[in-house]
Amino acid sequence: MTEWQKSDWRAKPRVQMPEYTNGAALNRVESKLSQYPPLVFAGEARRLKAQLGAASRGEAFLLQGGDCAESFEQFSADAIRDTFKVMLQMAMVLTYGAKVPVVKVGRMAGQFAKPRSAPTEVVNGVELPSYRGDIINELAFTPEARSPDPEKMLQAYTQAAATLNLLRAFSTGGYADVHQVHSWTLGFTESEKASRYREMANNISNALDFMKAAGVDSDRAHTLQTVDFYTSHESLLLEYEEALTRLDSTSGKWLAGSGHMIWIGDRTRQPDGAHVEFCRGVQNPIGLKCGPSMTSDDLKQLMTKLNPQNEAGRLTLIARFGAGNVAEHLPRLVKTVQEEGANVVWVCDAMHGNTIKSSSGYKTRPFESVLREVREFFGVHKAEGTIPGGVHFEMTGQDVTECTGGVRAVSDENLSDRYHTACDPRLNASQSLELAFLVAEELSALRHARAEAQAI
Ligand code: PEP
Ligand code: CO
Repeated sequence: MTEWQKSDWRAKPRVQMPEYTNGAALNRVESKLSQYPPLVFAGEARRLKAQLGAASRGEAFLLQGGDCAESFEQFSADAIRDTFKVMLQMAMVLTYGAKVPVVKVGRMAGQFAKPRSAPTEVVNGVELPSYRGDIINELAFTPEARSPDPEKMLQAYTQAAATLNLLRAFSTGGYADVHQVHSWTLGFTESEKASRYREMANNISNALDFMKAAGVDSDRAHTLQTVDFYTSHESLLLEYEEALTRLDSTSGKWLAGSGHMIWIGDRTRQPDGAHVEFCRGVQNPIGLKCGPSMTSDDLKQLMTKLNPQNEAGRLTLIARFGAGNVAEHLPRLVKTVQEEGANVVWVCDAMHGNTIKSSSGYKTRPFESVLREVREFFGVHKAEGTIPGGVHFEMTGQDVTECTGGVRAVSDENLSDRYHTACDPRLNASQSLELAFLVAEELSALRHARAEAQAI
């Protein structure tokens, strides 16, 4: 068999990708990007893979979240900080509540390209190409804005680099120091969850004071002062992905330099398609979205292609069936994985199966459905004796009104107040925290039940 090449996907059927009409401009952008530095390094991707391997065995838990689509217009240091902060808070709730290390992965620094349910959109009788994310075209409904422009890849690269730079600074520069657990609560408006979070922060502070008094904090201080924070996005726009792919001299293997983890969407996971072909050749951890149409046979083929060595941490299966549908679909896939003896991380995306149109016309997700899908996911793993390895969700640290429900209830009528997403509706900070408490409860109940069963 000939060696995999980063351009091999070009010979395969491609879906959900733009047709660029200006070939010369596209080539210019691709050759520029090929000369730019990669955004991430192979050693980081390998470390993430090892941590995901731990999640596959139930020794860690993946928290993956961020925007549905990053936007050029809403790019700001505050927005990055707030999303990062909410991720830290959620991770803290999980670490403290379920006593498990949390692997933190943002849908950030590269989450720009979007698959769409229809190739075109009709408004008042006018038909134009659908918006496919800021790396491809623009949201405004004009022929110019909707035509794909390869130059946008350069802006996406620049924004991803700046985002990652700030995330690296936040992760290691003092902001993520666990001693700051109280200051992350600033800006919380009062809610039952906020006071639960404060109470937990007090307990953590007390534990830290105790450790300090007992002299145990000094040599491990670095562990508490910094976090590992990784980036991820859907590997959809393959011209961009290929241009940032590099051969890693240490391992002699290819690395997608666009982000630590990349995933394949539910609409682009054809076993013989371009997206699977690209992802199979890079050494990064790979996510695979699994929607209701995924058959056992599809999954077998995809596991063989994407993880032929059955490496732990290489493949994360991101289940997204929608509340009420998990019991119908997840068990057959869990059984397939068991039968194949495959190493995978099972993750619940409780967002993409729960999108509806509200009575006020906005695309929304009822928070109750999100919580219900998480409960159903844990229920199936409990019944099958398998391991729930993480959650995947769309959220922002901004106080938006995009998903209905939650303790500070957002109603259908409220959606228009602060509806800012460029694509799918996101959880706001308060809803995200509420979700984290639920996940911590489910996870710790499952771990307790299993520990007791073992002890008998
Ligand atoms: C997404 O994660 O934004 C997405 C489009 O997901 P899916 O491929 O699962 O529909
Ligand atoms: Co989305």
